[in-house]
Amino acid sequence: MKNVFNNIMDSIGRTPIVRLNRIALHSKHTFWAKLEFFNPGGSVKDRIAVCIIEEAEKRGQLKPGGTIIEATSGNTGLGLAMVAAVRGYRTIFVMPDKISEEKRAILRAYGAKVIITPTAVEPDDARSYLSVAKKLVEITPNSFYSNQYHNPDNPKQHYRTTGPEIWDQMGDLIDVFVAGAGTGGTMSGVGKYLKEKKPSIQNILADPEGSILYDLYYHKKVVNPPHPYKVEGVGEDMLPENVHFNVMDGAIQVDDRSSFLMTRELVAKEGICVGPSSAMALCGAIEWSKKLEKPSNILILFPDNGRAYLSKAFNDAWMRENGFLPSPLKSKTVADLVGNRSPGELISADVGEKVLEVVQKMKAAGISQVPVYSNGQIVGILDETDILEPLVKGSLKSTEPIIHLVKGTLVYVQLTDDLASLNEHLLKGYVALVQEGKRLHIVTKIDLLQFLGAMPELTN
Ligand SMILES: Cc1ncc(COP(=O)(O)O)c(C=O)c1O
Repeated sequence: MKNVFNNIMDSIGRTPIVRLNRIALHSKHTFWAKLEFFNPGGSVKDRIAVCIIEEAEKRGQLKPGGTIIEATSGNTGLGLAMVAAVRGYRTIFVMPDKISEEKRAILRAYGAKVIITPTAVEPDDARSYLSVAKKLVEITPNSFYSNQYHNPDNPKQHYRTTGPEIWDQMGDLIDVFVAGAGTGGTMSGVGKYLKEKKPSIQNILADPEGSILYDLYYHKKVVNPPHPYKVEGVGEDMLPENVHFNVMDGAIQVDDRSSFLMTRELVAKEGICVGPSSAMALCGAIEWSKKLEKPSNILILFPDNGRAYLSKAFNDAWMRENGFLPSPLKSKTVADLVGNRSPGELISADVGEKVLEVVQKMKAAGISQVPVYSNGQIVGILDETDILEPLVKGSLKSTEPIIHLVKGTLVYVQLTDDLASLNEHLLKGYVALVQEGKRLHIVTKIDLLQFLGAMPELTN
């Protein structure tokens, strides 16, 4: 029998390394990726989950029927839930609200209890995911806090498995190793092992903008205060004990936009669907490689699978909302929209006009809505559906005045406003008015739809 295992845990590890052929095509360096999504739980974290649980059992910290509690961005939780299922433990995971819905759902699928906490609070705030996890440990009988940020079994497992695997796969060929750090376990364990094997290797930390690890590495203190960012699982606003700066030879910062665009480029050019933290590490590696004179072999660790990010990195609307893809709503203005209109006279109605007269007026002009005035002031809008419904129901006679039918809260917008802010008004049910010289335009949802529908970037 070959490649046959006694249980799911034994299938963890021995992940492939793949050469990246089309990304950074013109670089003199060669980029290689270690694909940790080949692990059964879909990420590098399966490795530490099994080690942390086995070591805790040996120490008597985890007893039969016990509950494992962890503060996790998802992947460690999944690894722990998988091992817990095999060993018969309960699991409770606490995660910040920026973590994708897919990751929460898969943890629940593994039988875990998931508690969501706010992202934008200080680490020592009682609501932070670390504080909530610690509190849960205090109040849950027979519980074990796996504590991936500070538990030395985390880097130890990478030193024992991931590092030797990489050395076995690439040997002396490897010149640079690049990874992000969340708990630091991967970089600290792999970096230590590789450095012992080849002292000239460069271990480079890729860190998202907004994390403090980059500053701590170069300045030993926080220079730029941390701020929220979108890449999950990497970077920190506190220093975990498992981040060992002594194994690192450099650090590089990567912005969210580059990471998310690279996530898509990896699928498009290499057929590799991984999460944004992998793409972040790759961006860091490409940037770092520009400093290297000799053609080098650069290995990047790709921590997890892109499937966990279908609602984010692989969702055009989400990418646009976050400014990672150009948004027609942001790049076009109200002036662009009304500029498209023919300069014909604006048809209007007065609140005293009869339904039949207004219908005839709309028919003659070929329009479906008219602005309605009272004493020379605009008071609302009348849409053909506002007339049709009560007529059909019999609650309106065509000889009645339209005053009872006028609807819409009016809001004035500027020609220079972008279409995103126009859309916000329209979504609230407002009718937007815009003055262009002497001419008053009415802008409704239909106008916006027609305009967007005709845009080349949305029709292809
Ligand atoms: C998606 C993802 N990438 C990278 C990492 C970083 O790995 P480490 O915790 O070993 O530093 C994590 C850790 O949570 C992660 O979830």
